[in-house]
Amino acid sequence: MRASRWRLLLLAVLALMSSCAMRRVEAAVGIQPPEKLQWHYYQNSCRDAERYVRNQVEFYWKLDRSLAPKLIRMLYSDCFVTGCDASILLDGPYSEKTAPQNAGLLGFPMAVIDKIKQVLEQRCPGVVSCADILNFAARDAAHLAGGPSYPVLAGRKDGMSSSAALVDLPLGAVPWGSALAYFESRGLDVLDLTTLLGGHSMGKTNCSFIADRLYNFNNTGKPDPSMDSSFLAQMRVQCPPNSKNQVYLDPDSGSSYSFSKSFYSRVLNHRAVLGIDQQIAANNDSSQIAEEYNASFEDFRKIFALSMSRMGNIKVSTGNQGEIRKNCRVVNRK
Ligand SMILES: *[C@@H]1O[C@H](CO)[C@@H](O)[C@H](O)[C@H]1NC(C)=O
Ligand SMILES: *[C@@H]1O[C@H](CO)[C@@H](O)[C@H](O)[C@H]1NC(C)=O
Ligand SMILES: *[C@@H]1O[C@H](CO)[C@@H](O)[C@H](O)[C@H]1NC(C)=O
Ligand SMILES: *[C@@H]1O[C@H](CO)[C@@H](O)[C@H](O)[C@H]1NC(C)=O
Repeated sequence: MRASRWRLLLLAVLALMSSCAMRRVEAAVGIQPPEKLQWHYYQNSCRDAERYVRNQVEFYWKLDRSLAPKLIRMLYSDCFVTGCDASILLDGPYSEKTAPQNAGLLGFPMAVIDKIKQVLEQRCPGVVSCADILNFAARDAAHLAGGPSYPVLAGRKDGMSSSAALVDLPLGAVPWGSALAYFESRGLDVLDLTTLLGGHSMGKTNCSFIADRLYNFNNTGKPDPSMDSSFLAQMRVQCPPNSKNQVYLDPDSGSSYSFSKSFYSRVLNHRAVLGIDQQIAANNDSSQIAEEYNASFEDFRKIFALSMSRMGNIKVSTGNQGEIRKNCRVVNRK
């Protein structure tokens, strides 16, 4: 029985989730939420904060559905670099958002966060942190895109600095072991990595990021042997050598900007677009997780909620550390 170990773990996690609070689940899988984050944190200080965020996200998502993968990506870029402290939102000549990995985050998703912050500052000045807004907004966008809804613990403070030099997000082709080590260095694991990669059922990538797979894999002068040959032929048509085209990350569902179980079935059938996604099938634990998600999209949605929560809890600041920014792009003046 290949899938037995992960199947048991997933079933245990899911059983806990349906019968108990998320807090218990997090304990069960070994990550405690940071002490001071709370549910309904803004209940008294800014009663409808989460509802305002949801309304704004829905408004902009209806205009442009690419908002969902972009906000999820923005949360990832924030939390993996110096923790979830909204450092990704700060402007500045050498801030995190100027790193090449973050080029896609400068326009639309940033403008949506600005708008949400303006509304909240009018209603409850100086109360809701940018770090919490980003966590709420990414959750709401994921839900609109067919992902789960889940409670976001809040009370994060905003960080005071941001430096492009600290951005170490892997760019382009990455071996699975490096990606996993990167996740583990933040307290996340193979279940989180395999699950969060499911976000690649939405949106596009540049041909430059897959050119090596199509034409010169690992400097062999040949394509990636893990690619299905008819799929390889299709992708070569869409991405001729040195192409500046863009392609959908999941050709079945990318254009709908929604989560889809097709992502994991493509991975298992050697038809994933990105090399990192295809490597899910090449590793024992992750391929068993992919089989489980291919069998049950609902399991994927539930664990996606868990992994987003775990990511949103990386190295948060609470209490007297940090501040509540008035404008998410700049630290408050002393
Ligand atoms: C991807 O391609 C688009 C359109 O060609 C371009 O504007 C963008 O800078 C590219 N992004 C990266 C990271 O190369
Ligand atoms: C790439 O090639 C190097 C040696 O040339 C090898 O050690 C490595 O395993 C290869 N990587 C992949 C993903 O095949
Ligand atoms: C994915 O699930 C479908 C059933 O929904 C099944 O027919 C198919 O064999 C599965 N694919 C793999 C590679 O396990
Ligand atoms: C995958 O894991 C199972 C059980 O943990 C083990 O028996 C098997 O040898 C592993 N397969 C590979 C290819 O590592």
